[in-house]
Amino acid sequence: MELLLLIKLILLGVQLTNVDALTPNYYAMSCPFAEFIVRNTVSQALRDDPSLAGGLLRLHFHDCFVQGCDASVLIDSTGDNMAEKNSTANLSLRGYEVIDQAKQFLESQCPGVVSCADIVAMAARDAVYMAGGPYYDVAKGRKDGRRSKIQDTINLPPPSLNSTALIQMFGQHGFSVQDLVALAGAHTLGVARCANFKQRLSNFDANNDVDPTLDSNYARRLSRTCSAGDDAQVGFDFTSNRFDLNYFYALQGRMGLLASDQTLYSDPQTQMIVNGYAMNQARFFNDFQQAMVKMGSLDVKEGNEGEIRLNCRRVN
Ligand code: HEM
Ligand SMILES: *[C@@H]1O[C@H](CO)[C@@H](O)[C@H](O)[C@H]1NC(C)=O
Ligand SMILES: *[C@@H]1O[C@H](CO)[C@@H](O)[C@H](O)[C@H]1NC(C)=O
Ligand SMILES: *[C@@H]1O[C@H](CO)[C@@H](O)[C@H](O)[C@H]1NC(C)=O
Repeated sequence: MELLLLIKLILLGVQLTNVDALTPNYYAMSCPFAEFIVRNTVSQALRDDPSLAGGLLRLHFHDCFVQGCDASVLIDSTGDNMAEKNSTANLSLRGYEVIDQAKQFLESQCPGVVSCADIVAMAARDAVYMAGGPYYDVAKGRKDGRRSKIQDTINLPPPSLNSTALIQMFGQHGFSVQDLVALAGAHTLGVARCANFKQRLSNFDANNDVDPTLDSNYARRLSRTCSAGDDAQVGFDFTSNRFDLNYFYALQGRMGLLASDQTLYSDPQTQMIVNGYAMNQARFFNDFQQAMVKMGSLDVKEGNEGEIRLNCRRVN
């Protein structure tokens, strides 16, 4: 009996000293209202501008795919360092002010405790939920990185990739084909600029003027929109502020906006998954949650590998 108690105490001790592991209760003692503060900030921001849901979700993706989920995406460039932000792949990332605001509240409540990387992960989750998507627990304890370099953004997928290349790239990060399609479903939120799909609309290749996988009426509509220039925006689906199935319906209707979207319907392997999600929202939501949890743990920095940044835009 006593021995058992001793073992239990030792195990508890190990648990308590192993504070580095990500856990949903990470801030339970040190900042019990952390989740609440982030949720409130996101909720307020989305009330003012519902389209920020897409921005916040994408911020988390770009953070995690470059140097791991360590808030490196938030760092501003300085005189001697060109940060990730300044890459062309940053492509209009937005939502930075929401993260800044949450951080400011958190610093006033529990100074120096909550990492910017955790704020980004929570904000993305809250944005998805508030836009009508699933809710999932975010394990916390990520540390903020000290490196943010423009050349690291080479790890982000360009919108021209076909499904073979996407499967390979996501596979390198440990994602299955199913994870890839579920994550691509994030494009149920948000918009893209003409710069990222105009190549599909004219002089596409030697045989086709327009990308043959694109619905021709839709292509004409896009061409009209894009006559306004590279920065003209188009929603990925008809409900760009709602986390729903319309993105998958769009793919089925050959109205995927980016080449990297429509390719998921051209490849039989991924088409099967797209059709499965289009038929069953619960399946999409479930796979999306799981894939997001996986994405949120990519190359997470723990202990001395990182820090708790005081200002999300600058290393301490
Ligand atoms: C599969 C490979 C992917 C490619 C090639 C890709 C590419 C892009 C591009 C080019 C844009 C438009 C940027 C602009 O023109 O402003 C965009 C937007 C977006 N992406 Fe992706 N993306 C991918 C995967 C993901 C993933 C995994 C997520 C999140 C889990 C995500 C979330 C978003 C969101 C929410 C937007 C809209 C942003 C906004 O409205 O501000 N994307 N993506
Ligand atoms: C980096 O991007 C910021 C924000 O858009 C811009 O103000 C700044 O001039 C850019 N810095 C460089 C060195 O290009
Ligand atoms: C993103 O990159 C573009 C092109 O390099 C730059 O003009 C823009 O200022 C950058 N945006 C941010 C927020 O840094
Ligand atoms: C996909 O893209 C890669 C690299 O650009 C190319 O080698 C391959 O042939 C393409 N696959 C298909 C099925 O189009």
